[in-house]
Amino acid sequence: MRVAVTGASGFVGGAVCRALTGQGVETLAFGRRAEVAPGHLGGAAYRSWDLARGPLRDAPEVDAVVHCAGSVTDWGPAAGFFAVNLDGTRRALAAFPGARFVHVSTASVYDPFRPTVRATEDQAPVARYLNAYGASKAAAERAVLRARRDAIVLRPHAVYGPGDTTLLPRVLSSVRGPLLPAVGTGRQPVSLTSVANLVRACVLAATGPVASGIFNVTDAEPVVLDDALRAILAERGIRARPVYAPHRLAHPLAAAVEGAFLLARRPEPPRLTRYAIGHLAVERTLDISAARDVLGYVPAPTSFAGAADW
Ligand SMILES: NC(=O)c1ccc[n+]([C@@H]2O[C@H](COP(=O)([O-])OP(=O)(O)OC[C@H]3O[C@@H](n4cnc5c(N)ncnc54)[C@H](OP(=O)(O)O)[C@@H]3O)[C@@H](O)[C@H]2O)c1
Repeated sequence: MRVAVTGASGFVGGAVCRALTGQGVETLAFGRRAEVAPGHLGGAAYRSWDLARGPLRDAPEVDAVVHCAGSVTDWGPAAGFFAVNLDGTRRALAAFPGARFVHVSTASVYDPFRPTVRATEDQAPVARYLNAYGASKAAAERAVLRARRDAIVLRPHAVYGPGDTTLLPRVLSSVRGPLLPAVGTGRQPVSLTSVANLVRACVLAATGPVASGIFNVTDAEPVVLDDALRAILAERGIRARPVYAPHRLAHPLAAAVEGAFLLARRPEPPRLTRYAIGHLAVERTLDISAARDVLGYVPAPTSFAGAADW
């Protein structure tokens, strides 16, 4: 069996490559940058391909594609997100017309304006999003499902683990002396997804008997945000404690900060965005029955063990 992985130079794609090669699957890795350390890819052959620029010339024959590439941030011009997340996805579909298509989507396709409570897959995409990341990922899902019958869409939420470029760095950079400012009550349940669990789902989707469907992918059970933050801090040996600002105060403050950054044309994201707040300030939990029952997904519980080395 031969599997192509896009976004292989990134956090999730690299982990997917290592898992596939570890199982003896011939793996062809694609990323935007010119080179990637072979260890990151588990020794998979690597090719550079900028999905936003054009089609892949001489695309190899493969049995499945795990499409992890994406513009993954909550800040920046909409055109940049759509060029990679939507147009890039269309190019990935076109490059491998006969292959099973595993699309790594996101829980950001659920309605950001209200809590996500044990959401089932039929509740997204929706008509409104807070930012171009969510909107472009929703558009990509629609494009995938229009183009292919044999597509699998995976929706993880807040992926963490070794190599994490998003969640852990954001939490750690928010620590101020003995305090970790956060939003909400701290008691809100959230579904998180370890990269190991997401990789399990990707490998099942690419190589298993089920060839189509939309699946939420999270750890075995949701966790309480305060417990998760305290576990991360403890594992990293940081002597700080979370303190919580009410959502109704933090939301307008984030809108003002975003406005100021936009006016100043600052390229880097503000630390506080409505999107980031919205993701952790209220319940964000997903129902994973479909992944368990149909895909045969058996997730491990949330754990930050080893986070000191990430
Ligand atoms: N991390 C999370 O918490 C999270 C949560 C839910 C869903 N997801 C989804 O998981 C997928 C992987 O995310 P990640 O966390 O692994 O992000 P990441 O570490 O930022 O990796 C993104 C990957 O996409 C590639 N890429 C970006 N622009 C590209 C372009 N124009 N052409 C070709 N490749 C391009 C990057 O290549 P270069 O690095 O070489 O530029 C990199 O390999 C994304 O689809 C994301 O939406 C992530």
